[in-house]
Amino acid sequence: MSDSWNLQAYLEQRIGLVDEALDRYLPADDTLPAALHKAMRYSVFAGGKRIRPILLLAACEAVGGTAEHALPAACAMEMIHSYSLIHDDLPAMDDDDFRRGQPTNHRVFGEATAILAGDALLTEAFILLSNPAFCGEHSGEACREVVHIMARNAGSRGMVGGQVVDMESEGKQIDLPTLEYIHTHKTGALILAALEIGAIIGGATAEQRHALCRYGEAIGLAFQVADDILDIVADQTELGKDIGSDAARGKATYPAFLGLDGARQRARELKEIALKALAPFDDGSRPLREIAGFIVERTF
Ligand code: IPE
Ligand code: IPE
Ligand code: MG
Ligand code: MG
Ligand code: MG
Repeated sequence: MSDSWNLQAYLEQRIGLVDEALDRYLPADDTLPAALHKAMRYSVFAGGKRIRPILLLAACEAVGGTAEHALPAACAMEMIHSYSLIHDDLPAMDDDDFRRGQPTNHRVFGEATAILAGDALLTEAFILLSNPAFCGEHSGEACREVVHIMARNAGSRGMVGGQVVDMESEGKQIDLPTLEYIHTHKTGALILAALEIGAIIGGATAEQRHALCRYGEAIGLAFQVADDILDIVADQTELGKDIGSDAARGKATYPAFLGLDGARQRARELKEIALKALAPFDDGSRPLREIAGFIVERTF
């Protein structure tokens, strides 16, 4: 890969690829029931860094696979992430008003439709993954594993489990292992799944898959540590969502536990762990290396 390689241009190109595919896969705005499909599309297309689908495609390519074959799984991942954001913002959860630079889903469509739009996005992800057009590209076993990993990491042993402990811990003193449990589950689980699924679709060896999972674990946790930091230091317009929300709700966060400098230090350590995990790879892992830096240094 030449030295003219540029992360921002890479991310923009990938966002274009993912957005174009999401637009093809999601039911149109006027498909009945139109209110529901409008609400689903509203949150998916409100913006968003698309970091999970981009990681999934990058993992696939790092082991010699073709990004195009991984696009349905990448979009399924983004649908599940978008559902998690809609539900995370609900009054019963974080009760936030802004997301991706727009009013939150329930503020525009009402709570009932927001809940159902989230439910439908989660379901839509599995419609996409079980579509013969996707499965036909891969062996039956690869397809089964992709569905299994996506479901497991999204559910009660993954993202949803982390969200529950996040809610239970509001306003409480918790220990560091519990904080790490929250972050590795509510956020780390989907990011790890992105790496593992990308590895499977790309035809990774067992060693490559293992290395990509170690990378995914480290950047998955780093991603939420950075998110906690941004809730304190970011510019709200640039971030596109409410700031100060964690302190207001007494959330368990890394800065609350380690202080801002301690949290920054932890994020940098996790980045180093992630980069070490990529040691067995050649230049094809450059996007993954650069994304690890972006995750820790980002301002949005
Ligand atoms: C926000 O995720 C929620 C977390 C899990 C930290 P992102 O920061 O990836 O949000 P978008 O997709 O870019 O809006
Ligand atoms: C996000 O944690 C976890 C999920 C959405 C699964 P946060 O509650 O910190 O995310 P933001 O800050 O609202 O994006
Ligand atoms: Mg939350
Ligand atoms: Mg939140
Ligand atoms: Mg947050």
